[in-house]
Amino acid sequence: MATKIRLGLIGLGNQGQEYLRAMDCCRHTEIVAGYDLSQAALDKTRREYPDLILAQCLGQLKALHLDGLVAALPHHCYEGIWAELLDFNCPILKEKPLGRTIREAQQFISAAKQQGCPIQTAIQRRQHPSYICLAERLKGQSIRELSVHMHLGFNPDTGASDSWRSQRPTAGGGALLDSGYHLVDLVHFLMGQFELVNACLWDGEKLIQAESDTVETEAVLLGRQGSAWVRIESKLSGEKCADSKTGYKKSEAADVLTTENRYFANREGVWENGELILACERGWEKAIAKQLDDFADNITDKRWNSRIIWEQLPAMQMIDRAYGLVYTA
Ligand SMILES: NC(=O)c1ccc[n+]([C@@H]2O[C@H](COP(=O)([O-])OP(=O)(O)OC[C@H]3O[C@@H](n4cnc5c(N)ncnc54)[C@H](O)[C@@H]3O)[C@@H](O)[C@H]2O)c1
Repeated sequence: MATKIRLGLIGLGNQGQEYLRAMDCCRHTEIVAGYDLSQAALDKTRREYPDLILAQCLGQLKALHLDGLVAALPHHCYEGIWAELLDFNCPILKEKPLGRTIREAQQFISAAKQQGCPIQTAIQRRQHPSYICLAERLKGQSIRELSVHMHLGFNPDTGASDSWRSQRPTAGGGALLDSGYHLVDLVHFLMGQFELVNACLWDGEKLIQAESDTVETEAVLLGRQGSAWVRIESKLSGEKCADSKTGYKKSEAADVLTTENRYFANREGVWENGELILACERGWEKAIAKQLDDFADNITDKRWNSRIIWEQLPAMQMIDRAYGLVYTA
C-alpha cells in the first residue's frame, strides 16, 4: 500500500473535529498531529483520538516534517499566524473564507506564492455527491434560473454571543462571508461566474445600510449570467419549526430551472422534474475525506492549478462587491 500523506491540523474547534471524524473515510491521507491554543480543545481531542500527536507549540508541529497543513482557525487569527504557517514550507488546506476581505485574501495568496507554499481553500459542497450529480446533469443545458439557500436553524433569541463570529472585525462578516461563502461557491461550481445585480443584508429585522460592526444574520444576493437569474439566500436562523430543537429549521438546497428541466438538490438527493435520480447521505464525512484525499493527490502530483483552488478568489471578489454595495449605500 502506498504511504499515506501526513497532515497536521491547526485548530481543533468545531470544524477541526469534522476533519478528525472524516479520517476513517480517507483513502490515503492521515491527520497525524494537531495543535490548538485552547486546553479544553486539546483535552477533548486527546480523549477521542489518543493516537494523535498533540503539539504544544507550532515549533513542535514543524519538527514533525509534515506533508501538509490543514488550518481551521477563527477568521481573524490568520493575520498574526500566516508567516509562521508559511514557514512550514508545505501546502496548506485553509478553511474558507480565503480571507476576511478580498484584500486580505490577496495578501495571503501573494505571501504564499513568495514562499512557494501552495494554498487550497477547503470548501465541501463541491465534493458532496448530490451537488456533483447536479453539476453533471446541468452540463450542456441552458440555465434560466438558479436559486440556492442555506438556513442554519439557529434560534435568534439565544444566538447572541461574544464569540469571534459575532463581531465584524474578527469574523469579517456573517451570513454572507461565513455560511454564504458556500452558496457563492456552489453557484460558481454549478454555472460559473455571474454578475451581481443587488445585495441586501439584515441584522435581525434591521436592514444594514451603512458602515457598522454588526455581523449580518441574513443575506440575499441577486445575480445574472446572460439571460439567467441567480438568487442566493443565506440565513443564520430560517423558518420556524416546532420539530427542531432550536425552534428553527435547518435547511439547504439548490433549485434550478433549465430550458428543458427543473432540478432540486439538497444533501439527501437530486430530483429531476420531481423524480428522484440520486439518493445520498447528508453527512459530511465522505465529502471532507474526498477533499483531504484530493489535497493529498495535489501534494503528491504537485498539481496546484485546478479549478477548485483558483475559483476561490472570484468567490471572495463577489462577496466583497456585495458588501461594497451595502456598506457604501
Ligand atoms: N466548511 C464548513 O462547513 C465550515 C463549518 C464551520 C466552520 N468552518 C470554518 O472553519 C474555521 C474554524 O471555524 P470553527 O467553527 O471550527 O471555529 P471554532 O471557534 O469552533 O474553532 C477554532 C479553534 O481554533 C483555536 N485557535 C484560535 N486561535 C488559534 C491559534 N492562533 N493557534 C491555534 N489554535 C487557535 C481555538 O482555540 C478553537 O479551538 C473557520 O474558517 C470557519 O469559517 C467551515
